[in-house]
Amino acid sequence: MKDAAPETVYLRDYTAFGWQAQDVHLTFRLAPHATRVVARIHFAPNPDAPAQDFFLHGEELKLIRAAIDGTEVTPELTDKGLTCPVPSGPFLWECEVEIDPASNTALEGLYMSNGMYCTQCEAEGFRKITYYPDRPDVMSVFTVRIEGDEPVKLSNGNPGKSGDGFAEWHDPWPKPAYLFALVAGDLVNHPGSFTTASGKKVELNIWVRPGDEGKCAFGMEALKTSMKWDEEVYGREYDLDIFNIVAVDDFNMGAMENKGLNVFNSSCVLASPETSTDANFERIEAIIAHEYFHNWTGNRITCRDWFQLCLKEGLTVYRDSQFTSDMRSSPVKRISDVIDLRGRQFPEDQGPLSHPVRPESFQEINNFYTATVYEKGAEVIGMLRRLVGPEAYSKALDLYFDRHDGDAATIEDWLKVFEDATGRDLTQFKRWYSQAGTPRVTVSEDWQDGTFTLTFSQMTPPTPGQDDKQPQVLPMAVGLLSPNGDEVVPTQVLEITEAEQSFTFEGLGARPVPSINREFSTPIVLERDSSAEEKAFLLAHDTDPFNRWEANRALARDCALDMILTGAGPNVAWLDGLEAVLRDDTLDPAYRALMLAGPGASELAQVLHERGHTPDPEAIYDMGETLTQFMAERWVDLLPKLLAETRVTDAYRPDAEQSGKRALGAAALSLTTRLDGGAAAQAQYDAADNMTLQLTALMQLVKSGNGEAALQAFYDQWQHDRLVIDKWFGLQIMGLPPGQAVERAQALTQHPDFTMTNPNRFRATLGAVGGYHAAFHRKDGAGYALLADKLIALDDINPQTTARMCSLFQTWKRYDADRQALIRAQMERIMAKDKLSRDTSEMVGRMLS
Ligand code: ARG
Ligand code: ZN
Repeated sequence: MKDAAPETVYLRDYTAFGWQAQDVHLTFRLAPHATRVVARIHFAPNPDAPAQDFFLHGEELKLIRAAIDGTEVTPELTDKGLTCPVPSGPFLWECEVEIDPASNTALEGLYMSNGMYCTQCEAEGFRKITYYPDRPDVMSVFTVRIEGDEPVKLSNGNPGKSGDGFAEWHDPWPKPAYLFALVAGDLVNHPGSFTTASGKKVELNIWVRPGDEGKCAFGMEALKTSMKWDEEVYGREYDLDIFNIVAVDDFNMGAMENKGLNVFNSSCVLASPETSTDANFERIEAIIAHEYFHNWTGNRITCRDWFQLCLKEGLTVYRDSQFTSDMRSSPVKRISDVIDLRGRQFPEDQGPLSHPVRPESFQEINNFYTATVYEKGAEVIGMLRRLVGPEAYSKALDLYFDRHDGDAATIEDWLKVFEDATGRDLTQFKRWYSQAGTPRVTVSEDWQDGTFTLTFSQMTPPTPGQDDKQPQVLPMAVGLLSPNGDEVVPTQVLEITEAEQSFTFEGLGARPVPSINREFSTPIVLERDSSAEEKAFLLAHDTDPFNRWEANRALARDCALDMILTGAGPNVAWLDGLEAVLRDDTLDPAYRALMLAGPGASELAQVLHERGHTPDPEAIYDMGETLTQFMAERWVDLLPKLLAETRVTDAYRPDAEQSGKRALGAAALSLTTRLDGGAAAQAQYDAADNMTLQLTALMQLVKSGNGEAALQAFYDQWQHDRLVIDKWFGLQIMGLPPGQAVERAQALTQHPDFTMTNPNRFRATLGAVGGYHAAFHRKDGAGYALLADKLIALDDINPQTTARMCSLFQTWKRYDADRQALIRAQMERIMAKDKLSRDTSEMVGRMLS
């Protein structure tokens, strides 16, 4: 049972736990509906903590017995945990509970997925396994014994004794309970090994359900590459004899970095050319790296409390983005990250769910695993590195690992190592952690007697609970180009600290064209009146590939807005500039594909809203159709050239080179389909020997209006593969016109393969509706109603996923009064649900307030 009025937890209320857990021994007797968990824990008073009652978290546990130093005790139980009088000195706590993993559809704590036992404890799931001080600053050495008939039984650390019906594990590294993991079932492994820089051989395994063995090779290579990269770039070696990864079908998030036993959503680790797209491969590589990198940034150094989540997540996302840049194309990675930031984090930062990178309060911490904590948290680290430079960054990181290894640390600790390593004062910089909202920066220019002046003004709009914002430190990367396109001032980082601040460049022969916020060096909204000619100039000449892309993006946006607001036709001058880029085969195809992808409907809605207009989803959709048709017709000669140029004849590889070609080919196919009604797409579909080509062709067939036969064929071919069928669910919703997509999604929720208990399937279906701007925002409210219906039904089953998906409503105040009323009614309907989870109630409550 959850409380009627959930309590709010505040950062300022932090107090240490009154005891240290010196060691933890856990015995699991597995049974689907009645697993017994016996805990034996040595507690000793924590000399640094204030006096307090002995309280252990515990939820949904059936207490069988408890004892202190061998004497039975009767603790006082609440729905949140237990209290019990304890001796003043050290003591042994023993406790046995019963839990019901087979009924656990929330996928938090110990649960079952396809007959396999697995756990998810971050953030506060361990309290559903046994009574424990379930907080990250309580760290202990865990020894685990698993009893059951399952052939494979895994936990953290190194394997100990095993035999008939039992297996033991010992993790020598003290860890918080959120890093605990247990997996048991009928699993098979894809083995590998890695020898660390200091010569230690580590056994590697990817554990999967029988039948999935053929989908592990790529993940295994990615793991080894990550291990090597972390040694080379951060000097971090692995620290156990074994590293296990397990693929689980039912999982709320992407993956989890449990010490020595990472648990992955199967969609984030299993891959084969026939069943996975290029994008899947790239994402898998990044997530394997991310979870592996957590071994140092998260596990060896963890967080003092959940307010410090960005300490491990921002840093680990930053590290995995560096890794991907090194493995693939750095500009393509940066552009993709910025698209993602603008698509997910900016709406969050600028709407009712806005919160600082380090939040100061929460009701349900699972609601704060957000784009702000993760992606903006990573941007903040990128800015820090840019400010201090790469050498000082490395020095600071070395100091961080030296000083805080084994600690549960804070953002203050993190910034202090940078201050100590560089002598810089980071007081003002720290506002990036405490101030929510996206800064808006305007720039003006002045040119006089060979001196060029750039004046920046910054302003951050109010966000919930924060009306007044102070100026932030903006490391603004700027370069200057001469009118003939040469770079006269190479990139330099201007450190903006004031609300308004000017920088001058002297001794220039002619008025330069500035290229501002190169590489998106600071995550802001740049408001700058520059002419279409200047943007076209940057599109043609900027030496910074990011800003070249950005100039094109701005032109595309302006063209779209003109078409929507004034009924103008497409901007032909821009299309000619873009065509020159598309024809330039010295440019990476992946980069050209990104150039060709215009801003999505949601981004346009956001920009319209920012500029004081009410976005009309139908008008945005119609504009997109008109513009795409226009491009297709205009580029009738270019398209066959692009299709030919991007054809891959080598055997399939998911690397940057081949996937870049396929991405550009897909963009060209999509335009071609506008002209040939799907003939080229059908040919590609019939010939496809990999999922990327098969799926892009299927999408175009659906879009052409001739996709039903192919959809059926695809289903027949892949019905045995859950991950492929997820794609099938989503694709047809996204490919149909807005007038049919909601009905199709509704029908698919009645399909025998639809299930409410698998988050991947739920997201594939309802997420496709929510992410399809024109369908979701249909005037009659059918999109809103469908989502609300399913969220209400999901809340009893899986509160975490329900709450996350509620955020699809977060942009509601952008829209017209009718749509706002429709959305409000749906959110109020959700709020009125009986026994609404704390997760969902917090999210919807914040959006409504
Ligand atoms: N620490 C995991 C990661 O980023 C995320 C797990 C979050 N899970 C949750 N239920 N909140 O790799
Ligand atoms: Zn993470």
